[in-house]
Amino acid sequence: MTQPKITRRQFIIGTAGASVLALGGGAVAAMRQPTIEMGEFSAPQANAQGKVLVAYASRYGSTAGVATAIAQTLSQKGIAADAKFVAHITSLSEYRAVIIGSPVISSVWAQEAINFVQANKSELSQKPVAYFLTCITLGLTNQPEARQKIASALEAVEKQIPDVKPLDKGMFAGALDYSKMSLFMQLMYRAFAEDTTSGDFRNWQAIRTWAEMIGPKLVGKS
Ligand SMILES: Cc1cc2nc3c(=O)[nH]c(=O)nc-3n(C[C@H](O)[C@H](O)[C@H](O)COP(=O)(O)O)c2cc1C
Repeated sequence: MTQPKITRRQFIIGTAGASVLALGGGAVAAMRQPTIEMGEFSAPQANAQGKVLVAYASRYGSTAGVATAIAQTLSQKGIAADAKFVAHITSLSEYRAVIIGSPVISSVWAQEAINFVQANKSELSQKPVAYFLTCITLGLTNQPEARQKIASALEAVEKQIPDVKPLDKGMFAGALDYSKMSLFMQLMYRAFAEDTTSGDFRNWQAIRTWAEMIGPKLVGKS
């Protein structure tokens, strides 16, 4: 039986096509992001004046955990609060005050958090507001220069959207977990980050203490 012959041209096209497919498949696999659960919290009952909203952006879930802890602490202290991922928020009208939090990504708040404040600035300018951030820097050092550098992420939001005036700004150590990142993001982070240390540096006591301080300020009890 004679083998069907392929021409040199067909061979080159076939090999190039297979290589493109293999590279494309590899690129798709490298970009694949593990599924991340964004935790939310809803206080079972609202106060007569409404609830406080903790709106958060998060890439890998650790800021979701901080936002949830803030909302739970407020609710335990008698200030009913919900924690919601910014993409799930459709209205602010039922909320008496809003806390907005985001991880620091490449020295600035995540773009979706900035967009949320920008899109809702007229309503937010009429309500008591606080901001917070999570970052890896504060998990690694507490030096004043590092704190100042991280604080500039929130100063930039105030500068960009001056109509919204936060009563306070919380800054918390976050968490970095390479297993939650796509292979591509892991490579990028390891290549470009000043410090590639990973770990969960969230200080739950510091987060709860801030929530206990900011809650009464937001609802006018102090
Ligand atoms: C792409 C990328 C860039 C980051 N850039 C910074 C940064 O500039 N400064 C910093 O302190 N932390 C930085 N971090 C760390 C995050 O702010 C920190 O891990 C945060 O807790 C992540 O929150 P999330 O789990 O809610 O996404 C970066 C993390 C990633 C993935």
